[in-house]
Amino acid sequence: MSARPVPSPDRDPTVVRLEDLPPGAPPVFGDLSDFFNPFLPHFVRATLHGGGEVWAARSGSTFDGLLLYNEVERVGSIFTRSPTVAQVLFGLKEHVALFSDFPLAGHTEVYHVFRADRLGDGPAHQFAHPVRLARAGDQPAIVRLMKEMYGRIDPNWLPVVPSAEEKCVVVEVSGEIVGTAWVTVVNGQGRLHSLSVRPHYWRMGIGTDLWHARILWARRAGARQVLSEIADQNVASQAIATAGGMRKVGQLFLSYRPTEAPVPRSD
Ligand SMILES: CC(C)(COP(=O)(O)OP(=O)(O)OC[C@H]1O[C@@H](n2cnc3c(N)ncnc32)[C@H](O)[C@@H]1OP(=O)(O)O)[C@@H](O)C(=O)NCCC(=O)NCCS
Repeated sequence: MSARPVPSPDRDPTVVRLEDLPPGAPPVFGDLSDFFNPFLPHFVRATLHGGGEVWAARSGSTFDGLLLYNEVERVGSIFTRSPTVAQVLFGLKEHVALFSDFPLAGHTEVYHVFRADRLGDGPAHQFAHPVRLARAGDQPAIVRLMKEMYGRIDPNWLPVVPSAEEKCVVVEVSGEIVGTAWVTVVNGQGRLHSLSVRPHYWRMGIGTDLWHARILWARRAGARQVLSEIADQNVASQAIATAGGMRKVGQLFLSYRPTEAPVPRSD
């Protein structure tokens, strides 16, 4: 087991990689987030399944922090109620940037948490484009689309084949996948993520169709609420969410690792 003490200003959390914990004693994460507690077991499973890293912080007898990390993209998410634990987890990897409830560096971007509480109250949406579930054979086209739009992408991070908890949907135009998006439903809670439309096809209603298709599936899968995190400067995505009846309920921060920060030891 490679638990290692990590110094902190006022407490002394221990940070351990999940795989290094003794088998049969999975950590139970309590209340680490205003919005994402119901999703944490799913996030952990999905991260491990995709080859990512899961680190847990423990300051006393309970786990009070979680870091999900993707080594390829060098991004990840911290979940904790403690700014001290968040700072310790922020210093753990030589990342590009990490999401957290707290701003953890000089360079941060604000993300708004949008939530729809009453699914399906509005008038039925008229689809302008056929939206379908992605299939295994769509993987290369979807990865190509995501790489074109975002640069470095780890395909393992974005499952294409539908699972019980997560679906990927796509819109095709003339046989080419031009838009894609994901929806997760766990414990009656939904989350929309990674909505992406090729720039050539913007302002044709494809993003809106992908939003509504995911809401329909989330309702059918038993979601009572749906969340989505959207960057402050992302006017288009916010417009789609707001038009669909979502409202801002909170904030997250994407904090960039300072270039002068020491490189963490990997032991
Ligand atoms: C966000 C995104 C998916 C929108 O896709 P889209 O297919 O162009 O969206 P729609 O055509 O359905 O647009 C719906 C509404 O959003 C708003 N909107 C869309 N693009 C906009 C823009 N560039 N500026 C301002 N408002 C915009 C408009 O209100 C639009 O309705 P309108 O065309 O009737 O005026 C697309 O811009 C995109 O892929 N962006 C990059 C990736 C991204 O930011 N993803 C979101 C992650 S949360």
